[in-house]
Amino acid sequence: MTAPQPLIAGNWKMNGTSASLDEARAIAAGVGECPARVAICPPAILTHRMSQALAGSRVLVGGQDAHWDDAGAFTGDISAEMLADAGAKLVILGHSERRTGYRETDDIVASKVKAALRARLEPIVCVGETLEERKAGRALDVVTGQVRGSLPAELSGQTFSVAYEPVWAIGTGLTPTTPEIEEVHRAIRGALVEQFGEAGRAVPILYGGSVKPGNAAEILHADEVGGALVGGASLKADDFLGIVRAL
Ligand code: 13P
Repeated sequence: MTAPQPLIAGNWKMNGTSASLDEARAIAAGVGECPARVAICPPAILTHRMSQALAGSRVLVGGQDAHWDDAGAFTGDISAEMLADAGAKLVILGHSERRTGYRETDDIVASKVKAALRARLEPIVCVGETLEERKAGRALDVVTGQVRGSLPAELSGQTFSVAYEPVWAIGTGLTPTTPEIEEVHRAIRGALVEQFGEAGRAVPILYGGSVKPGNAAEILHADEVGGALVGGASLKADDFLGIVRAL
């Protein structure tokens, strides 16, 4: 089976206003012929304007979260269908900042994945261990457990990716060593093949956590790394393009 096409996605988190659309335009203008699919996931309120700003470019727009239900009395929430209606093609689900800050369990993440599929959004499902879990030697168990629990059977035959984001590497400037990244990515691949058979080999496994232009080439060329989920460095076009060009 051929290697999956890499995906490099920027997660803007709760950063950016309409002025930031220029940064997105600069990313689209500079992305060129790189072999990866490229996406930006802005705050939900920018989804529509960013989709319009990037129309005709090869940069996709994604959401950062979506509700598990399609509509209803959920004050302040946003559905997958709304994101799709605003032009999103992908959606990040189960980010550790949602798992910890909003107590999202694997079951909740799996329900959100199903909602995303109903809306024809491509899920990017995040997993990752805390520093305590790594120190206790439980990183592989935690991460493969999250993969099994967060990926519903409905993903079979669908396009999606998994992002390995060690919690302790997010926004800290710390990254695992390349062998550590490869060890976890191979374990995730094993869990994907167990669950989805040979089709599990076509799922890109992104790495996320302090990816910068300076470390991107080594990370992106590591075994079983199929792209990156980039936080802080995706906010500036030059930095994000430096990562995209490292592939
Ligand atoms: P940083 O790249 O800022 O460490 O964030 C990673 C992340 O959480 C992407 O989803």
